[in-house]
Amino acid sequence: MGYDLKDRIVFITGASSGIGRASAVEYHRAGSRVVAAARSLDKLQELADQLGDDRVFPVAMDVTDPAQRDDALDKSRERFGPIDVLVNNAGWASFSSIYRTPPEHLDRMLKLNIASPIAMIQAVLPEMLERRSGQIVNISSVVGNQPIPRMAVYSATKAAVSSLTTGLRMELKGTGVDVLLVCPGSTNTPFFESAESIDVKAVRFSKSQYSPEQVARAIVQSSRRRRREVTLTVEGKLISLIRRLSHRIADAIMYQVAKRSMPTLKT
Ligand SMILES: NC(=O)c1ccc[n+]([C@@H]2O[C@H](COP(=O)([O-])OP(=O)(O)OC[C@H]3O[C@@H](n4cnc5c(N)ncnc54)[C@H](OP(=O)(O)O)[C@@H]3O)[C@@H](O)[C@H]2O)c1
Repeated sequence: MGYDLKDRIVFITGASSGIGRASAVEYHRAGSRVVAAARSLDKLQELADQLGDDRVFPVAMDVTDPAQRDDALDKSRERFGPIDVLVNNAGWASFSSIYRTPPEHLDRMLKLNIASPIAMIQAVLPEMLERRSGQIVNISSVVGNQPIPRMAVYSATKAAVSSLTTGLRMELKGTGVDVLLVCPGSTNTPFFESAESIDVKAVRFSKSQYSPEQVARAIVQSSRRRRREVTLTVEGKLISLIRRLSHRIADAIMYQVAKRSMPTLKT
């Protein structure tokens, strides 16, 4: 049986830009009420103005800050009621070799990409379990399945998101709460400009980048169809398949991809 998104309350982290913003538009199109959360309230307000009705609620929140998280969740519940769907989307990357990743980059990736989704899940689960209904949608990445050098720390945080999703799904079996994983491949968003790097000169990823709208459609379709896991882009699907057959070949391919698309300043 599918999951009817009409009038559902969907809380999206990182909704001011890229995949999160496009997902807010797509859930809104599906008839949901959307809580759009991020740090940039001006961009969220712009999104709400664009969608132009009271089914969008922009909320300023640094998701890594426990007090801001609690405050945003309180405001969201006050406005719309209990959350039906949580989309853990906010994320950030440092394109750096592991041994040159500065502690502040490491800290930021660990807090934003993995500790915050866990905290958000802990915050919304009790109300979902009580109602025996809800969805947790975690945004991981193709590199969560197959790491890439010079993004190995980021890859590890995304692998943690993927693993967390599988573990949570097993823990919540039979509770009525769906746990879904979406692994985008290279997507044309400000992600690459927002990223920082220590030793990577440039980042030139694949030609077949998805648009954030394509990813958002896949996310909303996953919600509707209760699809447990979706991997996007042809390259993304291919490398995940190759890894299942041979780690050695998959590693060799990703080594070449990193060499070509992320040349370093030093060796
Ligand atoms: N683009 C890709 O190629 C790609 C591929 C695979 C997976 N992904 C994943 O997809 C997700 C979305 O990425 P994107 O490509 O849409 O990137 P993006 O355009 O850079 O968007 C990132 C979002 O995260 C928010 N954010 C960052 N730090 C935050 C914080 N401390 N608190 C709250 N929100 C925060 C940003 O909003 P504010 O700055 O306003 O807070 C922004 O809305 C991420 O998890 C990313 O890892 C992206």
